[in-house]
Amino acid sequence: AAEKVALKERIKRLLIEKQAVLVAHYYVDADLQDLAEETGGCVSDSLEMARFGRDHPARTLVVAGVKFMGETAKILSPEKTVLMPDLDATCSLDLGCPADEFAAFCDAHPDRTVVVYANTSAAVKARADWMVTSSIGLDIVAHLHAQGKKILWAPDKHLGGYIQKKTGADMLLWQGSCLVHDEFKGVELELLKQEHPNAMVLVHPESPAAVVALADVVGSTSQLIAATLTPDVQEFIVATDNGILHKMRLAAPGKRFIEAPTAGNSATCKSCAHCPWMAMNGLQNLADVLESGRNAIEIDAETSQKAKVCIDRMLDFAA
Ligand code: 13P
Ligand code: SF4
Repeated sequence: AAEKVALKERIKRLLIEKQAVLVAHYYVDADLQDLAEETGGCVSDSLEMARFGRDHPARTLVVAGVKFMGETAKILSPEKTVLMPDLDATCSLDLGCPADEFAAFCDAHPDRTVVVYANTSAAVKARADWMVTSSIGLDIVAHLHAQGKKILWAPDKHLGGYIQKKTGADMLLWQGSCLVHDEFKGVELELLKQEHPNAMVLVHPESPAAVVALADVVGSTSQLIAATLTPDVQEFIVATDNGILHKMRLAAPGKRFIEAPTAGNSATCKSCAHCPWMAMNGLQNLADVLESGRNAIEIDAETSQKAKVCIDRMLDFAA
């Protein structure tokens, strides 16, 4: 514990020294989330992370999350240094959508408006017309559908399928998925709901359709946290990465949070729903990159400029 306190103090000193700010996601270690808030940084969903990083005057952004979040921050602020505790922290959606295969998919469907999820590489975004996050994907596709546009969507098939069902838009879906959310199971969730009839079911839309169908609230991480404030509801079943429970408990003290069942969520596996890449962020590697300046995100200028167009469209739409 003493070591942890010393490490936190070192990080606080370094943030000031390097004129840096910490931008964290709700799935990273609770210590990092707390540190971000204590030091004037942010902990939020991926849309808010992008906006916060863009608007903050710091010279250096330290992004505690996964690679696409660091890349988005760098694309929006090429003049800032963007550091990440571990550059190998990626995402199964990003990995499952290689830029060359994605370009061929787009080439085969030139009549479609290309909408990509934030969880993609800069090179994939460079090929897209729009980028969306889970908090605003539904609104943006509804807007495009109202204009009569046909959509090519990548990479998350569950989020894409959910948006398609809600909006009725013509969407051609890439078949990617999140390895964390893909593990939530509808049948087991149904049984858990029966045991907790008063619980509100909160589901991230990267989950399979059978799980989303049982949800009371479907939304981004920030939207799910906001739902914990619902008056008169004391119990929640949560189908998203369990890193979010830290913030939920702080937001709604005294309320009860139950993790939704996953394939391996049993007596032998207490924390299956946790992203292995988010878990690569820790106090030690955060302190080390701040000290050394290593692990800076670099994106070639052409890719970055092209990718920025689709991100700006989303941020303008959200404004
Ligand atoms: P949010 O935009 O909802 O924070 O989601 C990001 C993510 O990677 C979820 O798995
Ligand atoms: Fe990607 Fe899933 Fe991890 Fe989010 S939780 S970063 S979607 S692998």
